[in-house]
Amino acid sequence: MNNPPEAREHWSNSLGFILAAAGSAIGLGNIWKFPYITGENGGGAFVLVYLLCIAVIGAPVMICEFTMGRHTQRNPVGAFKCLSPRSSRLAHLIGLGILLSGIFLLCFQNWGWGVLLIAAGLLIFRYGWILAGVMGVIAGFTILSFYSVVAGWTIGYVFKAVAGQLHFAEVAVAKNHFLAFIDSPAWTISCHFIFMLLCVLIVYKGVKAGIERWSKILMPLLFLLLVVLIIRALTLPGAAAGVRFYLTPDFGKITTGSVLIALGHAFFSLSLGMGAMITYGSYMGREQNIFAATLSVVVLDTLVALMAGLAIFPAVFAQGFGPDAGPGLVFQVLPTVFNQIPLGAFWATLFFLLLLVAALTSGISLLEVVTAYFVDERGWKRHRAAVVFGLAIFFLGALCAISVADWHRLEWIHHLLTRIFGHVKDSFFDVMDNISSNWLLPLGGLFISLFVGWIWGTKKAVDEIRQGSHNFADVHLVSLLAGLKDDPSHNSELHVITLASVWGIFIRFISPVAVLIAFLHTIGWLDFRPKTPPAEPPPIEQPAEK
Ligand code: TRP
Repeated sequence: MNNPPEAREHWSNSLGFILAAAGSAIGLGNIWKFPYITGENGGGAFVLVYLLCIAVIGAPVMICEFTMGRHTQRNPVGAFKCLSPRSSRLAHLIGLGILLSGIFLLCFQNWGWGVLLIAAGLLIFRYGWILAGVMGVIAGFTILSFYSVVAGWTIGYVFKAVAGQLHFAEVAVAKNHFLAFIDSPAWTISCHFIFMLLCVLIVYKGVKAGIERWSKILMPLLFLLLVVLIIRALTLPGAAAGVRFYLTPDFGKITTGSVLIALGHAFFSLSLGMGAMITYGSYMGREQNIFAATLSVVVLDTLVALMAGLAIFPAVFAQGFGPDAGPGLVFQVLPTVFNQIPLGAFWATLFFLLLLVAALTSGISLLEVVTAYFVDERGWKRHRAAVVFGLAIFFLGALCAISVADWHRLEWIHHLLTRIFGHVKDSFFDVMDNISSNWLLPLGGLFISLFVGWIWGTKKAVDEIRQGSHNFADVHLVSLLAGLKDDPSHNSELHVITLASVWGIFIRFISPVAVLIAFLHTIGWLDFRPKTPPAEPPPIEQPAEK
């Protein structure tokens, strides 16, 4: 049961749309996750790899998602359904590849992965591209389950800040406080519940009333607060070491694993790869400029992430703390910074409150994907879908909440998973994060770009993009740089290097190949490291004995 496009609610104007999309993109990913993975992956060089992933893969894929959404006016599954024949030769080929890999793994007695891949291959064979949309709905589930746990921590910290409990003289004390907090299920589960409740309430009210109004007011405030924090952090004694760690690239610290993490995080931070931006694009009017919207969202999102790093690393180093503290980094370091600002409790409350708002505008975009699917495709009432899936995600998230650090509360699940898949990650929380950020999102992005580039066709996509783009798509890039954009003779059809054609090449070749290489590499089928074992270090010369 599809809603006719006319009945669809739309954003009130392009600013509303940009702020809502930026609200989805800017969230815990920027302020909580980006600093801690940068810390774990060596600093400056990781930041550069991340920026490269954003420019080469993130931005082009975001254009795809907006375009698919606006063209079809549907949720992700509906969008694929509407644009594609049930199956295509490319889908068959992908299905076959996955099926064969499954059989290959079975031969090596890797039962869990073998069966999983065979099932996935068969499904792709049967349902084709629609499955990419379904994968997005599943990703919505898995991401929101751990996302809302972290958002719950934020709520907990708002309470603590109001109660004046966040006065820590040293990071070590702040760290213990945080560890004790996340290890108290009664707290973390209730905070996680509050967050899911807020998400459900907003999604329940619908796009404009719910999502748009909030984003407009509160996102700019968060931005200002970050500026205050950066200034304080940079003026702490010893801050320079942090700035150096953050901004000086040392490529020796980059491993191939960290490249995949950077790629996954580019998708995560821009809300790509699972159809959130397809869904938001579907509420976009034809007069809005897709290129300009993408540029604004990407720039804002990247800016906030870079600013968060600049607020945190100087503070980390100024206090002699290690940058690789993991998921607790922000919660452990920032309270000690607030402690050194007059009216610390006030600033801390404000900060965690705004972080909560940022998380909320992202959380609702995740729940919205799941809801829109059941409303559009299954004919559910919006209210019912929001409540039912909000509850389902709450239960999955409760499992994440009680197993952030290790498996000790969920041994039975651990046993089961280890039995089936061999080695599993450190905790249920990690498993959810890993499945979604490092697998489902990049795979989703790969399918979206292959689909737009080769099945729907860049030509039809560009026709859609042209609407509302004021000739932007056809501007000769060189004349744009030269400031001759409005000179008519510089926009003749003879010109080949236009924004549209550059985008087409990225979508057809560069993005899919980059994602594919990253994947094959993680699975271990493609290895860039030298085959020979590293040479023995030259014997250290013994100082001549006297
Ligand atoms: N981008 C958000 C953040 O950085 C998280 C998020 C919201 C998301 N919607 C998404 C991630 C869809 C992936 C897909 O916090």
